[in-house]
Amino acid sequence: MSTPADFKPELTQRPRRLRRTPALRAMVEETVLRPADFIAPLFVVDGEPAPEEIASMPGVFRLNIHDLVAECRELHALGIPAVALFPKLDPSLKDADGSGALDENTLILRAVRAVKAAVPALMIITDVALDPYTTHGHDGVLTADGSDVDNDRTVAILARMAVLQAKAGVDIVAPSDMMDGRVGAIRKALDAEGFTGTAIMAYSVKYNSAYYGPFRDAVGSAQAAGTKLLSKATYQMNPANRREAVTEARLDEAEGADFLMVKPAGAYLDIIRDVREATGKPLAAYQVSGEYSQIHAAAKLGWLDLARTRHESLLAIKRAGADLILTYFAKDMAKLLKA
Ligand code: PBG
Repeated sequence: MSTPADFKPELTQRPRRLRRTPALRAMVEETVLRPADFIAPLFVVDGEPAPEEIASMPGVFRLNIHDLVAECRELHALGIPAVALFPKLDPSLKDADGSGALDENTLILRAVRAVKAAVPALMIITDVALDPYTTHGHDGVLTADGSDVDNDRTVAILARMAVLQAKAGVDIVAPSDMMDGRVGAIRKALDAEGFTGTAIMAYSVKYNSAYYGPFRDAVGSAQAAGTKLLSKATYQMNPANRREAVTEARLDEAEGADFLMVKPAGAYLDIIRDVREATGKPLAAYQVSGEYSQIHAAAKLGWLDLARTRHESLLAIKRAGADLILTYFAKDMAKLLKA
């Protein structure tokens, strides 16, 4: 009878050989994160308030334009290639049609002009969707009976919104509304106005997710709706669906999207992989507010290690096939990776 001490199996394959030392582990590492992988989402407010921390997103602040410009300089110096800007409007500026979105002097356009003037090499991405501007918090305008978002009327508004953003100096417009046909309409409108160089990052595969909760606090779209249960189920995708993701991604590619996006990221790694394999376009994934908040919440309770969980969550998204990651951890990661 053999005892553990004299147990000598004849193993040809010993995968542990390549895990023996840090140098060996580095030599066989398959996925590497770098600052250029990350896009930083930033929240902008009007006026002179000091940066306000968003209660459900520790370390994330709403910035006025002055502080936003300073933050953008820092991010650029850290090697972050792009920022995605989101406005939080005063409720008095909202209406049912989101008409503030077409005001040439609206907050986000002033913010874009200021950042572009100060840090021209930093790419600016802006959301094309009406939710910051509507009293009901939906991404589009409602049908006459108010029972649903009106697809075609919304698309016409979004195309005009994208042109205003391009005029203000945005490098990449990002329709996040999930209306049918908006990518094609935006491309056509941009080209007609001479903005052939403005790229489109399409939120192609955007699920109707509970993970957006903290973001809606940040931009005030949940409060606008008067409920945290605002349902976007008639336009955002059902989390149960996988095949539909590839259909959506292919449609946006055919309509002229330059980048595709999957959102949220962490709970949808299978979808990221599917879309990666279905198209050759650069693929972004959005690690959304709730994904950020849950890591912070667990770390605060002492239940998870913040730095390790953060790193692992982002590594998983890149390993699944994302070329770019929108994440509220962008600055932390750039600092870490630059050192
Ligand atoms: C809306 C929009 C949302 C996010 C980005 N753009 C939320 C929503 O669809 O209600 C969510 C981002 C996040 O949760 O970090 N156009």
